[in-house]
Amino acid sequence: MGYKFIDLFAGIGGFRIGFEKNECKCVFSAEIDEHAGEMYQANYNEKVHKDITKIDEKEIPNHDILLAGFPCQPFSIAGEKKGFNDTRGTLFFDIERILKKKKPKSIVLENVKHFKSHDNGNTLKIVLNALHKLEYTTSWKVLNAKDFGVPQNRERTIIIGSLNGVKFDFNKLDRKQPIFIKDILEEEKSEFEYLDKQEYTLIANPKKQLSGLIFVGYRNKNIRTKGTKPDTIHLSRVHKQPNRIYSSDGTHPTLSSGESAGRYFIYHNGKVRKLTLKECYRLMGFSDNFKLLGSKAKLYNRIGNSIVIPMVEEIAKQVKIQILQSENKIKKPTKQMTLFDFYS
Ligand SMILES: C[S@@+](CC[C@H](N)C(=O)[O-])C[C@H]1O[C@@H](n2cnc3c(N)ncnc32)[C@H](O)[C@@H]1O
Repeated sequence: MGYKFIDLFAGIGGFRIGFEKNECKCVFSAEIDEHAGEMYQANYNEKVHKDITKIDEKEIPNHDILLAGFPCQPFSIAGEKKGFNDTRGTLFFDIERILKKKKPKSIVLENVKHFKSHDNGNTLKIVLNALHKLEYTTSWKVLNAKDFGVPQNRERTIIIGSLNGVKFDFNKLDRKQPIFIKDILEEEKSEFEYLDKQEYTLIANPKKQLSGLIFVGYRNKNIRTKGTKPDTIHLSRVHKQPNRIYSSDGTHPTLSSGESAGRYFIYHNGKVRKLTLKECYRLMGFSDNFKLLGSKAKLYNRIGNSIVIPMVEEIAKQVKIQILQSENKIKKPTKQMTLFDFYS
């Protein structure tokens, strides 16, 4: 029998697929967005619960792993100083009350890269402290999707907790050789949206950035004027993200949940075109069989919000090996986090 998990803030189930590929079984999911819920039902043949704040923790089935890509919200420092439960009023509070009641053996939380520095590090500190108070041993790291076999530079903060005292070792995750945008493109077809030559400018001598991106040019739109120095038009930062063009020989920048128009432009075989929706889903590791329902705008929002499946798959594999299948190594619970815990 596989380990059971719950999929909170489920989106379109990126977390779910990664854990299912490791023979784990989903026993509960919650997602408030109507369109995401419809896609979830169509793809997994399962109705999702909606607003997690309205669900009594007693109604949630027992599980071994709690998964949550929760929205990042500030906590009240004033509350903490007065000794209140300072996570109240945030969606993390809902994760906390479920953990308190159900005590799953492990947890995997995902958030944006800047979660670690959000509110001067206070948000991460409060989350880790709350987990320690519930007797979880934690470790966290910023992981990049491009290290897990997808050509997208997408950095995310991952927090992993265990109830058996195991401190998850992120170094054991299997990193893959990089692949590039050109490796996931569709065959040439009539629907490709090419730009005319007069609509863009290519720069001379484009260089590969450390992130793996190769900025090759820009759409001929207004450039940023604030803080822009003369002779910097060849730099990507002068151009708004939807106007930048990247070479298919490099990595793609982060797909964004706010980009409803799918303005992701690539330079491939001497021409500039928009990525197709299917290519965007491939950039997150979704298979071509994944059912896409509803308007293009919503489908772009959904994919920009998702977690990258091959990265989750590798995390799931190691959560099983390091935490769930390890002998009970019950050690004294960490009561209050130390500075060492915070920076390690
Ligand atoms: C960053 S996304 C997570 C996406 C998911 N990990 C995936 O792979 O698609 C956060 C999700 O939380 C959902 N959400 C926000 N508030 C919620 C609530 N109160 N109850 C349930 N879901 C909520 C949002 O609609 C959004 O889809």
